[in-house]
Amino acid sequence: MTILHTLVTEPWPDYGLVDSGHGRKLERYGRFRFIRPEPQAMWTPAQSNWEADGDFIAASDEEGGGKWHLSREVPRGGWHMKWEEVRFTAQNTPFRHLAFFPDMAAQWSWMRDRTGEGDEVLNLFGYTGVGTLALAAKGARLTHVDASKKSVEQGKANAFLSDMADRPIRWMVDDAVKFAARERRRERRYHGILLDPPKFGRGPDGEVWRLEEHLPGLIQHCRALLDENSKFLVLTVYAVRMSALAIGELLNQALADLGGTVEVGEMAVREEARGLLLPTAIFARWSR
Ligand SMILES: C[S@@+](CC[C@H](N)C(=O)[O-])C[C@H]1O[C@@H](n2cnc3c(N)ncnc32)[C@H](O)[C@@H]1O
Repeated sequence: MTILHTLVTEPWPDYGLVDSGHGRKLERYGRFRFIRPEPQAMWTPAQSNWEADGDFIAASDEEGGGKWHLSREVPRGGWHMKWEEVRFTAQNTPFRHLAFFPDMAAQWSWMRDRTGEGDEVLNLFGYTGVGTLALAAKGARLTHVDASKKSVEQGKANAFLSDMADRPIRWMVDDAVKFAARERRRERRYHGILLDPPKFGRGPDGEVWRLEEHLPGLIQHCRALLDENSKFLVLTVYAVRMSALAIGELLNQALADLGGTVEVGEMAVREEARGLLLPTAIFARWSR
């Protein structure tokens, strides 16, 4: 029988889920506090008088659109934050998040525990590179792939900010599936792979990414990039109607011949006010 785990990101000095409830959440990001919609926070908040520097007001279409209403002065170009050795810029994006995903911290820690000096790690859909830098800080050699030139540029800027500009990181603006297929043809091998795919996306040449349609093929490419020296593969999925069991079985099947174990479950952040857990994503991860 498969056991479902709850992987909790605890508050860290520069980030915390302060309070949540009535369909919203209050979070601190460095010296700023923001309120964002959170349909899963169906409970009553601990406090009724939230003070924040801004609110994200969702558009009525519920398609993720909307905009920020900033009530105090917040630098438009962003501000610096820190997670362990990684320094990076947080920013109010039009996509309602802050240019990184704080609930990934528990996955970064887990991968760091399995990463050694000189290990080759592939980060697909790497976005602004906080995960990449978290592993580079452990001495790993990273390949960071994202379709967005702007995100890759932010990743490089974050590397500079973290004094890691000289680390062995290949920054690739590419389609995740095409890149993985090319690496497979080149018979490249990785010690670890991280994939955090969106529900829908586009590669730099307009290649369409649809999670349900393209994930199985991408996992096959990833399997071919792992071998008897490989240590982990982490897959996280959010904003999709999909069960952790489903992505767990996908990994179980694709990676069966490698041995090791697959864990599956929900990711959550712990609220500071009462310790309750706010779910953010599902995951499946293989390790050996
Ligand atoms: C939500 S982000 C991943 C978050 C990141 N792993 C983190 O923790 O900060 C999803 C990323 O996928 C990228 N993306 C979307 N479609 C893609 C594709 N076909 N190939 C490569 N990257 C893609 C987007 O540019 C975006 O940066």
